[in-house]
Amino acid sequence: MKNKIINIPVSVLLLILSFYTLPAQSTDQCIKCHLDLDDTHAKLFKTDVHFTKGISCAGCHGGDATIDDMDVAMSKEKGFIGVPSRVNRFQVCINCHADENKMKRFGSNIPTDQYEKLKSSVHFQQSFNDQGPLADCVTCHSVHDIKNVKDPTSKVYPTKITELCGSCHSSAEFMKQYNPALPVDQVSKYKTSVHGHLNAKGDPNAAECASCHGSHEIQPVKDSRSLVYATNIPSVCSKCHSDAKLMAAYKIPTDQYEKYVKSVHGIALLEKGDLSSPSCNDCHGNHGAVPPGVESISKVCGTCHVLNMELFEQSPHKKAFDEHNYPECESCHSNHLVEPATDAMVGTQKPAVCVNCHSTEVNSKGYIVAGKMKSLIDSLKTEDSETKNILDKAGQKGMDVSDATFSLKDVRQVLIQSRTTIHAFNLDKFKEQIDEGFTIVNKAKINGEEAISDYYFRRIGLGFSTVIVTLLVIGLYIKLKKVEKKS
Ligand code: HEC
Ligand code: HEC
Ligand code: HEC
Ligand code: HEC
Ligand code: HEC
Ligand code: HEC
Ligand code: HEC
Ligand code: HEC
Ligand code: HEC
Ligand code: HEC
Ligand code: HEC
Repeated sequence: MKNKIINIPVSVLLLILSFYTLPAQSTDQCIKCHLDLDDTHAKLFKTDVHFTKGISCAGCHGGDATIDDMDVAMSKEKGFIGVPSRVNRFQVCINCHADENKMKRFGSNIPTDQYEKLKSSVHFQQSFNDQGPLADCVTCHSVHDIKNVKDPTSKVYPTKITELCGSCHSSAEFMKQYNPALPVDQVSKYKTSVHGHLNAKGDPNAAECASCHGSHEIQPVKDSRSLVYATNIPSVCSKCHSDAKLMAAYKIPTDQYEKYVKSVHGIALLEKGDLSSPSCNDCHGNHGAVPPGVESISKVCGTCHVLNMELFEQSPHKKAFDEHNYPECESCHSNHLVEPATDAMVGTQKPAVCVNCHSTEVNSKGYIVAGKMKSLIDSLKTEDSETKNILDKAGQKGMDVSDATFSLKDVRQVLIQSRTTIHAFNLDKFKEQIDEGFTIVNKAKINGEEAISDYYFRRIGLGFSTVIVTLLVIGLYIKLKKVEKKS
């Protein structure tokens, strides 16, 4: 990053400023005279949080607020710095805001880490026209009418902030000076989201730009320090979505995070660091965060599980689920607590998911199919393990069955593929695939059995030939003896 912090001799002036303490009880002459002059800055300043804390114009501009002579009050000798330049005006702010002791003197306990965070953020890089940092304290908080951040008229108040961030981020012309590749549609997309709708209605509790991105610490989104980096997102969303008190007014569940972290996806992302596993925003969108509609869940899951989606969409379930408003993939896999899929999910007995909707009375056709699918899987698995036993036996007897053993790998492949094929919920299609497995396993089984009978055949053969050879030897011996006697 091009963070060139500008260290101008302002620091000298700041030193003088730092001696500044609370204004004397007497009238603040800077404000008085500037109000008399009908100065707009002074008028604005009467609503500024600094004014309410007894901080005068001199708190930032220097000078002596107790003197009513303007030339003396605003003299270099009294520490007057005039109008700070754009390049280093933030120095004026951090003179207090980065100094815990000074803030305490004003009776303030708010954090003093804003500058520390900002200076390594994406926003503190040098502006393209060398006018100091791209965004500084004044860019976001304004000046002379700075408000407490919880004041609804603050520029960074939740219902105002889209305007602030959007002032740059919605301008293609402005943004291209820094990063032409960055989209400029965040605000417009945000407005279509559940968060954006509530925000537009004046609700400060819905997520806005800063609740997801933070404020002073903002990093490029691909940086692992970014609050919206995949592994950080779940805790960002859960700040609100796991807060039962906050969410009570909206009457929606607050268990998404708790379930997600236990899910196959949560474990893969958060424990194994597998970035191909979805974080909250992969299913809900970034700025357009909405729950996927019931009929579009398969599209959301399908961004990664493409085959499952395609098969599901051609299956008899697609139409039936849409009619009944069943939430597609979620009906069988859940949304936040997606667990590893196992064969126990198929069949006519719990925990098979099929029995949630199918029985001998209700949707009975599917019930029958579920039973058949389950028995197909079970019998292929049984055949597979029996065949494996047979091949093992043959192997132990020294027979070469490596080809047949190797071919069983394909059976396991068929079983894995059938877990995907099942999403067609079509018995013929499913059977066709399982049958491929049977073809392989049967061939291997025959190979194994042949090897074993070969083995016995050879043993018997060996026995036979030993006997015959022995007999021959004996015969030969007798014959020789006879010949010996004759001679
Ligand atoms: C008696 C009247 C008076 C007092 C007291 C006074 N000012 Fe001013 N100030 C003025 C006038 C008039 C101007 C505009 C004159 C000019 O542009 O130089 C001005 C200009 C300024 C400017 C703008 C300077 C610029 O370069 O554009 C700042 C900042 C300022 N005053 C701050 C202060 C502060 C801080 C104090 C108290 C320490 C103060 N003033 C006290 C009358 C006063
Ligand atoms: C919290 C700090 C702070 C306080 C308090 C403050 N100012 Fe300022 N003022 C600034 C900064 C920073 C700028 C430069 C703003 C910019 O670059 O746009 C500025 C700019 C100005 C300017 C120049 C405006 C322009 O458009 O060129 C005037 C005049 C001024 N201030 C007068 C005052 C007066 C009068 C008061 C008291 C009534 C006051 N300021 C209080 C920080 C402060
Ligand atoms: C990119 C915009 C942005 C910039 C730049 C920025 N701020 Fe902020 N600031 C915010 C937002 C948004 C909030 C409110 C949310 C929060 O508290 O994090 C905030 C909050 C604050 C608060 C209140 C903190 C609290 O916990 O009560 C202070 C004080 C503050 N900023 C000072 C500064 C100072 C000083 C600078 C310059 C070093 C600065 N800000 C620069 C956006 C910004
Ligand atoms: C002379 C010391 C001083 C200077 C200089 C100063 N501030 Fe402050 N600022 C304070 C104090 C004290 C508060 C009140 C904090 C509180 O309410 O606890 C405050 C409050 C704020 C708040 C509201 C914080 C909140 O909790 O909501 C913001 C934002 C802020 N200042 C921004 C700025 C910016 C921007 C500048 C520079 C243009 C600046 N300040 C310069 C002392 C200063
Ligand atoms: C509900 C949380 C949330 C809210 C609210 C939100 N963002 Fe984002 N933002 C994200 C996520 C998540 C990403 C993308 C992360 C990724 O691509 O890995 C993102 C990405 C971005 C990016 C990078 C470019 C892009 O579009 O991918 C910018 C710039 C941005 N947001 C600005 C904003 C602004 C401005 C607002 C307010 C209008 C805002 N965001 C509101 C969560 C949010
Ligand atoms: C003064 C203009 C300006 C303001 C105000 C501003 N930004 Fe930015 N922001 C930028 C620019 C320019 C970049 C791109 C910098 C780069 O890529 O080098 C950026 C970068 C970002 C990024 C990182 C994008 C990425 O992945 O590279 C995020 C996130 C972001 N801003 C969010 C916000 C939020 C949230 C706010 C409001 C609190 C905000 N910005 C206010 C100008 C601004
Ligand atoms: C600042 C608090 C806050 C943060 C942070 C937040 N949300 Fe929200 N969210 C809300 C509130 C409040 C609602 C409104 C609930 C409602 O009306 O249904 C909401 C609504 C939603 C909804 C619509 C729920 C529904 O059925 O109407 C989704 C989806 C959602 N948020 C997802 C997210 C995701 C994903 C993240 C993180 C990227 C996130 N939210 C971050 C406060 C937040
Ligand atoms: C694998 C996809 C996926 C992930 C990851 C995911 N969600 Fe959801 N979420 C959904 C679906 C699907 C729905 C339900 C939509 C429906 O039934 O209409 C939903 C519903 C919601 C709702 C609406 C209220 C509810 O519980 O029904 C909120 C709020 C929400 N999610 C927040 C989150 C948060 C926060 C995270 C991260 C901790 C997250 N989601 C992670 C897919 C996901
Ligand atoms: C961003 C990509 C992505 C999205 C979106 C996604 N998943 Fe996943 N899913 C994965 C990854 C990666 C894994 C493997 C995790 C692991 O390593 O255990 C996985 C695993 C699974 C598993 C376990 C598979 C097994 O072999 O046991 C199921 C079931 C599942 N996802 C269902 C869903 C459903 C339902 C949705 C939508 C609500 C969804 N996924 C959305 C990427 C995604
Ligand atoms: C009617 C119930 C049902 C629906 C609807 C459903 N699945 Fe499945 N899913 C299953 C069953 C049953 C298995 C297989 C379990 C096994 O045999 O191991 C499975 C397995 C999976 C697997 C692991 C196997 C593989 O293909 O990697 C993933 C991933 C998966 N489903 C994703 C999805 C997605 C995405 C959707 C929506 C498009 C979806 N499922 C819809 C019941 C369902
Ligand atoms: C959320 C409810 C639900 C679940 C869970 C479910 N189904 Fe269905 N299924 C239906 C509905 C509704 C129909 C359409 C009703 C009908 O045509 O009889 C249907 C139809 C079918 C059909 C087509 C029957 C025909 O008419 O040709 C098959 C096959 C089927 N399901 C198999 C399964 C299997 C296997 C499982 C378990 C892995 C399962 N279903 C889980 C609701 C469900």
